Amino acid sequence: MGGRNPYITDGEVEPPKQKYNITIVDEEGNEHQIEVDPDKVPYSDEGLPGSILDICTGAGIELDHACGGVCACSTCHVHVLDGGESCNEASEEEEDQLEEAYDLKHNSRLGCQCVPNGSQKIRIRIPSWNRNLAREPHGADTMTSKE
Ligand code: FES
Repeated sequence: MGGRNPYITDGEVEPPKQKYNITIVDEEGNEHQIEVDPDKVPYSDEGLPGSILDICTGAGIELDHACGGVCACSTCHVHVLDGGESCNEASEEEEDQLEEAYDLKHNSRLGCQCVPNGSQKIRIRIPSWNRNLAREPHGADTMTSKE
């Protein structure tokens, strides 16, 4: 699957204009350094062009995306550790989906909707609980913490 959800309005996205570096810390704690080249965006058919999901998919880094990257689930939930200021603001639709995400933090984003503009380095963590938890029930054990 892939593409866009016709029921949501696109937020303001500023695509990158210059190359920039992104570090992805995967579910097992391994770090992947990627140079994002605006001329090569999109890297895949998943998520918004230039999104974290698009970049991960293009680099062969597994990031769950049960809805195909159209802002209709929360399985692509990531934590933006550094460089969050260079990303587009979350839309209302993204905020709504994030409320379903486990371990919501102040730096939580949906990987399919978060598009860095390339003005600075960025560092992302894919939480380890993302693996095989596509639709884990959320309830009393859902926690919100600050990082
Ligand atoms: S993949 Fe479903 S919201 Fe991002």
